[in-house]
Amino acid sequence: MAEFLNGMTRTHKCGNLTRKNVGENVILMGWVASKRDFGNLSFVRLRDVSGDVQIVFNAQHLSEQLNKKSSLLKYEYVIAVEGEVSLREEINIRLDKPTGEIEILAKNLLILSESETLPFMLEGKNIGNEMFRLEYRYIDIRRNEIKNNLILRSNISKSVRDYLASEDFIEVETPILGKSTPEGARDYLVPSRVNNGTFYALPQSPQLYKQLLMIGGLDRYYQIAKCFRDEDLRADRQPEFTQIDIEMSFIDKEDKIMTIAEQLVKNIFKDNLNYEVKTPLTKITYKEAIEIYGSDKPDLRFGMKIVDLTKTLASTTFEMFANAINAGGSIRAINAKGLNEQVARKYLDKLTNTAKLFKAKGLMSIRNTVEGINTSLSKFLTEQELSQIIKVTNLEEGDLLLIVADGNNEVVCKALGALRLELANNFELINKDEYNLSWVVDFPMFEYNEEDKRYYAAHHPFTAPKDEDLHILETNPQAVRAKAYDMVINGQEAGGGSIRISTKEVQERAFKALGFTEEDIKTQFGFFVDAFNYGTPPHGGIAFGLDRLVMLLGKTDNIKDVIAFPKIQNASCLMSKAPGTVSQKQLDELALIIKKEQK
Ligand code: AMO
Repeated sequence: MAEFLNGMTRTHKCGNLTRKNVGENVILMGWVASKRDFGNLSFVRLRDVSGDVQIVFNAQHLSEQLNKKSSLLKYEYVIAVEGEVSLREEINIRLDKPTGEIEILAKNLLILSESETLPFMLEGKNIGNEMFRLEYRYIDIRRNEIKNNLILRSNISKSVRDYLASEDFIEVETPILGKSTPEGARDYLVPSRVNNGTFYALPQSPQLYKQLLMIGGLDRYYQIAKCFRDEDLRADRQPEFTQIDIEMSFIDKEDKIMTIAEQLVKNIFKDNLNYEVKTPLTKITYKEAIEIYGSDKPDLRFGMKIVDLTKTLASTTFEMFANAINAGGSIRAINAKGLNEQVARKYLDKLTNTAKLFKAKGLMSIRNTVEGINTSLSKFLTEQELSQIIKVTNLEEGDLLLIVADGNNEVVCKALGALRLELANNFELINKDEYNLSWVVDFPMFEYNEEDKRYYAAHHPFTAPKDEDLHILETNPQAVRAKAYDMVINGQEAGGGSIRISTKEVQERAFKALGFTEEDIKTQFGFFVDAFNYGTPPHGGIAFGLDRLVMLLGKTDNIKDVIAFPKIQNASCLMSKAPGTVSQKQLDELALIIKKEQK
């Protein structure tokens, strides 16, 4: 390198050159993105992290040796080029590309590294399937789509650090080899060599540690923290993901931490998309979210709200509806405005299947057509009931009403919530350029598990109950609401947190309601509960999914697109082939025996 460059190093990045650089002598380094030969002239598109630029090799102006070298160039060779920035001829100017007005007239060339033919193309339609690209992820990262997401991710982390540091948050790293934490997923375990038979658990979040840092007096903490959860993967879930984890002291109400969280997200959108998020964000209660949108992470970018028909049909004799009401459930509907004609019989069957996936027994419909009302319900409902339904739901000509009735309210709402989303996606009712940010608050404190016949913490066992519900903690746990909040962006849970219990008395009551024995508490969180004896400031916090924020800002539905080396459905890495087997020696040191029959 030094020989050819006479001790000079790279002067510019490819994508940063513009007509302002015309006449300058530059040295660029990067990959050959494409090459076209036209006799004496050949054009190479040179790519580095910043973008690409056209290099022109003109045989008439170059030595024989250099011409020979340039003729050897192939896709993805790594080269260094010295040349002069020149304005393109008028007809060759491409205003759609940042460097489209210029080209580099090559004077010197050095081949730094050759490349074999790539297993897939980096541009165009032929980019290969995802599994294949993940196997060669280091090549896939050269594609703009992945590279830009990783750059966006880095910039978002910078916004986070800038804002939180300006608000006096202290960045602290917490252990990866630790004790099991309480988020409720399955742990990843690491066997201890020194203490055979014992295991570390990789953190599902830094929850316990961040609370201990508050007891430790740090006042305001944050960390961009790796978290590990052995759970079923989805498009927005990875076994190993990253949280923007935050905790602050001397707060006992949700407002303060929610304001900090709003400002943080506002800055992230402003810094990275120049998008203005209007604060304060709308707050809706968990109850409203479920009843109106059928989801605890409602997509508020479109309407189609769920309407409760239970009162309207209170005295119906139609058995299916009456049974639902008598069982304490409800009858609810969504009005698919103007979609009657578009939802043909076949698509209605598909919608019925979706409703059934969410445990609804069926789906009923009323069509308001040019010829009038069309519904099989007219056999079972009185004319007055039917006209009341039409009035309450504002069912106009061209509209389609979808109705679910069930003895379980949650089933009714969630099934309709799923239909609402399905229709919005299918008929493109969502403006994808818009962001909708909101809070869902007042989550239930506990969730009852029918199988185990016991309560679980809906958030985690250290979440404080609402002051006004404290008195029913023992008598009516199902109705207790928590000081917990989720930030929802475009129907995705971007972050969640809570005010924590900070008195021993309430913590003991909460543990009892969760059915923990003294022994359970001691083994699971003994060190943590002990800490509360030594002066605990009231505190609370939140954690955002960094990966999910990058997905939202980068406009991708696939979490793998925003992680450098992601895992696939079965939690393995196609590139490194992790997880892998280990040697017998390693197993012996850990005192582990692998059972022959594995799941
Ligand atoms: P929670 O479990 O709600 O709260 O997680 C916070 C946020 O982390 C993101 N997230 C995930 N992202 C990708 N893959 C996953 N498997 C995954 N699981 C969660 C979501 C979620 O909103 N300790 C508490 C926070 C607190 O109370 O302060 C916690 O971990 O965006």
